[in-house]
Amino acid sequence: MNEEKDPLLLQHEMDGIRELDNQLPRWWVWLFNLSIVFAAGYLAYYHVLKASAFAQEGGVAAFEYKAEMQRGTELKSAAMGKFEAGIPNLTPSQDPILLNNGKQIFLTSCAPCHRSDGGGLVGPNLCDEYWIHGSNFADTVTTIWNGVPAKGMITWKNYLNPDQIKSVASYIHTLRGTHPPNPKPPENQTPVSTAPSQFE
Ligand code: HEC
Repeated sequence: MNEEKDPLLLQHEMDGIRELDNQLPRWWVWLFNLSIVFAAGYLAYYHVLKASAFAQEGGVAAFEYKAEMQRGTELKSAAMGKFEAGIPNLTPSQDPILLNNGKQIFLTSCAPCHRSDGGGLVGPNLCDEYWIHGSNFADTVTTIWNGVPAKGMITWKNYLNPDQIKSVASYIHTLRGTHPPNPKPPENQTPVSTAPSQFE
């Protein structure tokens, strides 16, 4: 047979099938070698050095995910704590972009209970001078931030970020003194003083 002279042809044969001993391309061999080096590094890093953490957490992905989440939670609670501490000093924003964002949030999240014009439905009228939880801007922000879960007012800090809460509170502030038709009448609230500072 002619093929037998081919230097690449190996000697064995099985049912007429012969094998050529082709050289592997250099790039392939390098890739192969590199993957062995990588595997050794990976093994040492994840399975030897981080062995105990690994056993506890249950794998690379879970371990890194938890570490990231932990960092995220810390950042978030620091930011929330900072905002919360600053609530007493907040003043309603006049920024039209921010007010518009607040309006969108109000229409989506708040209007179902407070009505799209703020006149009140399940939740109280937000346009009059009767306030259950205080009429200062800081009171409004605090009520939105913490909610009044027992009465059905949601704890918004779990769903909205501080900027969104400030936006929606500032938007509500612009509704004060507007007189939407058929407002929800005040319940047990006594009117707060309508000193101009509260309606500025
Ligand atoms: C599921 C219904 C519901 C939704 C949604 C809701 N609220 Fe309320 N809200 C209430 C109720 C009920 C009260 C009254 C709580 C009470 O009686 O103590 C209230 C009270 C308030 C108050 C205090 C009013 C006062 O007289 O002191 C503010 C401010 C307020 N809501 C803002 C918002 C904002 C902003 C949103 C949207 C981000 C929102 N609410 C969404 C039901 C709701």
